[in-house]
Amino acid sequence: MYTLMIFIRLILMIAVIMCSSAMATKKDWRPKILVTNKETPTKGVDILKQKCDVIFPENAPATREEILKLVPGVDAIMWVGHHALNGEVLDLGAPTLRTISTMSAGMDYVDLEEFKRRDFPLGYTPSVLNDAVADEAIGLMIAAGRRFHEGRLKIDNSQWYLGPQWMLGKDIKGSTVGIIGLGEIGQAIARRLKGFEIGQLVYTGRKPKPAGDTLGAKFVTQAELLKESDYVFIAVPLNNSTRHMINESTLKQMKPTAVLINIARGEIVDQDALVNALKNGTIFSAGLDVMTPEPLPADNELLKLPNAVIVPHLGSATTRTRDDMSVIAAHNILAGMEGSPMLAPYPYSK
Ligand code: DGY
Repeated sequence: MYTLMIFIRLILMIAVIMCSSAMATKKDWRPKILVTNKETPTKGVDILKQKCDVIFPENAPATREEILKLVPGVDAIMWVGHHALNGEVLDLGAPTLRTISTMSAGMDYVDLEEFKRRDFPLGYTPSVLNDAVADEAIGLMIAAGRRFHEGRLKIDNSQWYLGPQWMLGKDIKGSTVGIIGLGEIGQAIARRLKGFEIGQLVYTGRKPKPAGDTLGAKFVTQAELLKESDYVFIAVPLNNSTRHMINESTLKQMKPTAVLINIARGEIVDQDALVNALKNGTIFSAGLDVMTPEPLPADNELLKLPNAVIVPHLGSATTRTRDDMSVIAAHNILAGMEGSPMLAPYPYSK
């Protein structure tokens, strides 16, 4: 009897020890988050570090292969950069991976159909970069219209000539400006144009938007926009219906004096057709923040054109914007792991 009592007490003690150590483990447990670029702003990363263990690939930027090696066993991913994000990542992350947030507004590198099919909690960082991208768009408009790159080349080549007809550019005042895609960024561009005393603002898209009325913009067909506009801004997302929307035939619809500005995605433009159009004078000039491929090789034809102002995808590249993007992505991840609403969930039904 005595031996039995000792045995029972022993079993109870072991159970208590096991239970309390399990509770301690649960309390101390911290989710493991993969942030795919170790140069991600600390503003966002520090939010994650308060509650989670954060890991990064060794190299910055890391290859997709390096990133994929780190996926198994993580609870969430902040996907920073434009490597393909698809079902392969979700398969590698299963069963621990519960949520992902990108740190971008554009989602053209994400297999959204696959994420939707799996009903996977996905966040992104729209809106917060609208102003930075719109500022840059206006910068490109002026730089391409007023021949900044060509002027610099003249100086570099000792061709500075002070004639009254030399290096004349295009006016903005009184011009017709067309915006393809009056989404949040298109609207931010339109707001900035108010100070330039333009003649008319036109836009195109799937359907007229109430914002168009507020901004004094007229909804027109794409063909009308291209025919009438002195400046054409591309501000639509890249998808199957916008890929190569600007091509040899649509470029021919534009004025020979027109300036094309692309701050959306390179693949919306058939780049070979654009190079020809810039060489042949089909259009006057272009200001591009985005191109194909990215990074653009240093020997690419585009870079040889005096009338192409080329910037290496810097639309959202301001300190505050990138900080804000990282903060939103971090909050998306924390909410996604808890199963509560994200600050910026990707709207699959968009
Ligand atoms: C975006 O967020 O989509 C911008 O192009 C910057 O990557």
